[in-house]
Amino acid sequence: MTDKATLNIGDKSYDLPILKGSTGPDVVDVRKLYGEADVFTYDPGFTSTASCESKITYIDGDAGVLLHRGYPIDQLAEKSSFLEVCYLLLNGELPTAPEFAEFERNITYHTMLHAQFDRFFSGFRSDAHPMAIMTGAVGALSAFYADSLNVDDPKQREISAHRLIAKMPTIAARAFQYSQGRPFVSPRNDLSYAENFLRMSFSVPAEDWKPNPVLTRAMDRIFILHADHEQNASTSTVRLAGSSGAHPFACIAAGIACLWGPSHGGANQEALEMLQVIGSVDNIKDYVQGVKDRKYKLMGFGHRVYKNYDPRAKVMQKTCHEVLDLLGHGNDPLLQIAMELEKIALNDPYFVDRKLYPNIDFYSGITLRAMGFPSNMFTVLFALARTVGWISQWKEMFEDPQRKIGRPRQLYTGATHRDYLAIDKRG
Ligand code: CMC
Repeated sequence: MTDKATLNIGDKSYDLPILKGSTGPDVVDVRKLYGEADVFTYDPGFTSTASCESKITYIDGDAGVLLHRGYPIDQLAEKSSFLEVCYLLLNGELPTAPEFAEFERNITYHTMLHAQFDRFFSGFRSDAHPMAIMTGAVGALSAFYADSLNVDDPKQREISAHRLIAKMPTIAARAFQYSQGRPFVSPRNDLSYAENFLRMSFSVPAEDWKPNPVLTRAMDRIFILHADHEQNASTSTVRLAGSSGAHPFACIAAGIACLWGPSHGGANQEALEMLQVIGSVDNIKDYVQGVKDRKYKLMGFGHRVYKNYDPRAKVMQKTCHEVLDLLGHGNDPLLQIAMELEKIALNDPYFVDRKLYPNIDFYSGITLRAMGFPSNMFTVLFALARTVGWISQWKEMFEDPQRKIGRPRQLYTGATHRDYLAIDKRG
């Protein structure tokens, strides 16, 4: 196998090195191409472009495989915990027992927010989308933690990473409680990460809150499934923002803003709302016809990388059934619609030919709704869980000696040089 590609332009040829990863496609290194040949490569949407080198997450979209630091997502979802996955993503290895105890303590002891921080929430309208609150609140964290903003100091980078992972559940729960008109609930250091979040989201002063181990486990698993996903749009946003030397609170706020879009993290809200619009199994055929007529997309279906069943969706579907059975919602009409829709779509040539399979968002909305979250909170939960992926990728970028500010170029098709005309001469 050759270790270089040759590009011919006119009567000149250019040798381009081929780089090999530990698995996955080789990449053609075009870094010197512009300097040598005075041409750019063109790839809007990055469909064929590797934007960085990474050791964190690997996806084989054709086989439906997702590995974090080499470990398959289904094994992590089954056997690990979200905080252990956080350690793995950040540090590259599963922790030993003492390492995990120290990490868990670090996260647990950073969950509180500065008392003044709570005033930010009351500045928002009570009907504000919680993603709007998240975007603003996470950026505002930097105003409170000036002691960990020096991105060139590894210790400060680590403290910021811990603070972000620790404080996201508190911010997310406050955004939710605020929208419900309920008082904020402080974190408790004796509870697990997922249990703490559920308590901060659902407990009210008027009665005791009782944890439910099945729901706690489901929440933890949902966090694991969303923890990282290679160089997706929001992660690339975080890396690009960070490439300028911006501190992590600003970069994660940028990632949250990107995640909000309906083609990305916003799809879980849209997928559930789509099932509500369909309303009944009888309406599925007509709805699917509308998709084929390109009036709208089937939300929760399709993926840029997976051309097979999203491995996260398989675990999510199982978790969905567990939660709905526990809560006595096994006959939830939306679940019936989802299962029937999936069956039809997986057999219809329109979807089969385009390799459109359910993605993680297809079943997550039904599950979260059954757990008591309104649909506008779904993307917030995605952001909460993805924070560790963003911060791990941000950290990796900073530790890369080849780090450069991200600066894509363009194919310019606008007007070429022309001279300014006074307004009375235009016309
Ligand atoms: N429903 C109907 N048709 C679809 C869908 C869909 N959900 N997704 C893709 N297609 C069609 C698309 O119209 C195109 O058809 P044609 O070749 O005839 O023009 C073909 O499939 C290829 O689609 P594409 O738009 O080139 O694919 P992409 O890689 O640019 O888009 C996607 C990927 C995820 C944005 C897209 O599949 C989509 O919009 N899905 C719905 C939104 C969704 O569920 N997003 C969550 C993704 S998973 C969570 C996350 O990572 O954020």
